[in-house]
Amino acid sequence: MDERKRRLVIAIDGPVGAGKSTAARRLAQALSYTYIDSGAMYRAMGWKAIHAGVGLHDRERLAGLALSTDIRVVAAPEGPRVLVDGQDVTSALRTPEMDEASSVVSTLPEIRRRLVALQRAMAKEGGIVMDGRDIGTVVFPEADLKFYLDADLTVRSARRLGDLRRMGTPVEREAVRAEVARRDERDRGRETSPLTVAADAIRIDSTALDADGVLRVMLEAVQHVLKPDNS
Ligand code: DC
Repeated sequence: MDERKRRLVIAIDGPVGAGKSTAARRLAQALSYTYIDSGAMYRAMGWKAIHAGVGLHDRERLAGLALSTDIRVVAAPEGPRVLVDGQDVTSALRTPEMDEASSVVSTLPEIRRRLVALQRAMAKEGGIVMDGRDIGTVVFPEADLKFYLDADLTVRSARRLGDLRRMGTPVEREAVRAEVARRDERDRGRETSPLTVAADAIRIDSTALDADGVLRVMLEAVQHVLKPDNS
């Protein structure tokens, strides 16, 4: 048996609420890889803009902010932490305000350029699972394995609603559905790195699949890539 184990770069893309972060976290755990949530980096940039008093449509100042802000994702036992200029902002990133701020700032090419450079630097050694919107298409077009995870809008907004309610945020079902649809539209319609399916991505529809089912499909694909005759 070949004991050499290649440490893969695995990309997971898809729209809001498709189950990417759960799948990415569990896949990374199963393989002892590092999980990187690229959406958290866009959220961190939105957080920084708001706290620096920079308007979310002020392209010039946001471009400057992108270059001067230090964003880091560091591993911790309870899950990855996001540091903005050394300050741990992880617990402030999952609010409706940051949903909107990250969605808006992520349309700017200057912000994307900066974050893509940081994301590539994190993957130098391999052994990573990164989720987002452009990971298989732009960040790692040469990824060893790419997944595109999707689900019906109704199921995706129900998941988002559940997440927000668990965090104690009072929200209405219809408002969440509209917000998810709006963010999808922005992700798919933006000029720079829109959300699309990479030609070589494995598509998984999680509408009727639970997290175990998604993980099973992903692990089978990993085993296939790691087979000695595929290296
Ligand atoms: O996955 P998320 O909801 O945490 O992402 C927050 C926002 O960042 C989302 O509106 C889309 C954007 N994003 C992006 O444009 N590219 C990525 N690779 C990840 C997220």
